[in-house]
Amino acid sequence: MCGIVGYVGPAVDETALDVVMEGLARLEYRGYDSAGVAVIDDDEIAIRKRSGKLANLRSEISAHPLHASSTAIGHTRWATHGGPTDNNAHPHLGGQDRKLALIHNGIIENFHRLKTSLVDAGQSFLSETDTEVAAHLVAMAYERTGDLTEAMREAVAQLEGAFTLLAIHADQPGVVVGARRNSPLVVGLGEGANYLGSDVAAFIGHTREAMEMGQDEIVTITPDSVSVIRFDGTPTEGKRYHVDWDAAAAEKGGYPSFMAKEIDEQPQAIGDTLLGRTDSEGRLVLDELRISEDSLREVDKIVIVACGTAWYSGLTAKYAIEHWTRIPCEVELAHEFRYRDPVVDEHTLVISVSQSGETMDTLMAVKHARELGALTISVCNTHGATIPRESDAVLYTHAGPEIAVASTKAFVAQITACYLLGLYLAQVRGVATGERVAEIMADLADIPAKVQTVLDRMDRVREIARFMADSRAVLFLGRHVGYPIALEGALKLKEIAYIHAEGFAAGELKHGPIALIEPGQPVFVVVPGPDTPHDLHSKVVSNIQEIRARGARTLVIAEDGDEAVVPFADEVIRVPAAPTLLMPLITIVPLQVFALELATAKGLDVDQPRNLAKSVTVE
Ligand code: M6R
Repeated sequence: MCGIVGYVGPAVDETALDVVMEGLARLEYRGYDSAGVAVIDDDEIAIRKRSGKLANLRSEISAHPLHASSTAIGHTRWATHGGPTDNNAHPHLGGQDRKLALIHNGIIENFHRLKTSLVDAGQSFLSETDTEVAAHLVAMAYERTGDLTEAMREAVAQLEGAFTLLAIHADQPGVVVGARRNSPLVVGLGEGANYLGSDVAAFIGHTREAMEMGQDEIVTITPDSVSVIRFDGTPTEGKRYHVDWDAAAAEKGGYPSFMAKEIDEQPQAIGDTLLGRTDSEGRLVLDELRISEDSLREVDKIVIVACGTAWYSGLTAKYAIEHWTRIPCEVELAHEFRYRDPVVDEHTLVISVSQSGETMDTLMAVKHARELGALTISVCNTHGATIPRESDAVLYTHAGPEIAVASTKAFVAQITACYLLGLYLAQVRGVATGERVAEIMADLADIPAKVQTVLDRMDRVREIARFMADSRAVLFLGRHVGYPIALEGALKLKEIAYIHAEGFAAGELKHGPIALIEPGQPVFVVVPGPDTPHDLHSKVVSNIQEIRARGARTLVIAEDGDEAVVPFADEVIRVPAAPTLLMPLITIVPLQVFALELATAKGLDVDQPRNLAKSVTVE
């Protein structure tokens, strides 16, 4: 949940502090309860930290400048242990002489027991965090060993839980040591300088060469070396890779918010995720999966595990996957999956969906599925993240970096990737003919242009959102693939506009939710196209009549040319027609734009909504 940055390099034009502050600005989406930095300054550790957003830390540094240094670490926090105060902000100092500074992402589960024994041994604590325990343990080990890497190794042996730790010691300038277990850490490989970060955004302004860190590993960086050992002390090497996006992709590029930019990037996110997936004969190829067709033919059940928006992408994909493959598909919240007794065996394919690839609940669900013998495929947007590494295979979405906390372009890319997986399974198992696969791929290829058409038509939706800035509650109805879109539309409004919003399956209305309808209640309705099987279109049009008759203000998302909705709609939001199963990629767009505009009209920070962080790396 927190963002961490480490840097070692020469103290020439660019000081360590500048590099770390730039990294923190790019990682602030991971948590913004407090921020802090530590540098080694003349054989001492100098720290600045402040509760609240990074701007507060900047003011603190302006008021109390730090000297140039070649070695620095920085942290942006999403509070877990201890409130979002100055004292609890990272870095924390360790040891009696306070010569060690440490930052942490994750939760040290046995911190209470460790703290009690440290207090009994006479150690004093300045914060309520679990992190300070780790700072003291590393510092005490350093006093014994005189070596920061070895000190880290001794300390992590005592820790339980999930953590990425970065430490610097005043007596070892030019060295940053990092350790990771179940929390993210990547290495940035520079020339005469090296970097550590929660993700590559931390150093993308300086290098696009990166190295993955494995589970239970310790990395030591100096300006010209990077060495990795396992927690047991044996040397190892990380996997190097080139980051295929640059600093500009992680900037707003003239947009007022990352969310606005990312909504606009959706045609490209879908297009890039579809890119290069067919061979010269029109067959779908997912080479990167590296799973034999035989194992896929043995699958008799699919379970999709994910959280939040990623879970809604799974709920959406279920309709297509079952329709195309005829394999039963369950979609489960990752945090529920492993605490019940799921029926999963070696014939089950568990697909995890995660933008960050670091969501702890999803990671644990994947590990549980593997323990049960399932085949696991990760649909992920972040190269080299933990979930793909812990899975049998990965299918990357190519949405580019998603910085806004509210997920938008990753959502459509996730649906697209899950559709590719479903189609591939259908092809491999012979359920769908080559012709049928090619037809669906052609329909998918048309989607980016249709999404662009919706984006070009959003003026009226923006106007409606501004009128509705004072709404107390908004309801969303959908049916079939429109149902998860109603849920996702409601989530967007909750998380960035802080408005009570609920999504319902339109067919469920008369079983309870219709009691919520009172005069003036705004209700968005995602209407299936007139060609949707089972006459679902007429059924939803009847639902609109039912709520309108009770005074609802109906905001209807309907295909171009669908005139049946007009008499019952207070507003019709038109979208281009597409085959039913592909409509979610289009109909979600007005709901994202609506939430963004309404939150903006309320003067809220849409990229960093209260209480949230981009990736939830704690349980
Ligand atoms: O990184 P992930 O896709 O695993 O994240 C899952 C959810 O935490 C995430 O989608 C969350 O619900 C977003 N804030 C939604 O906008």
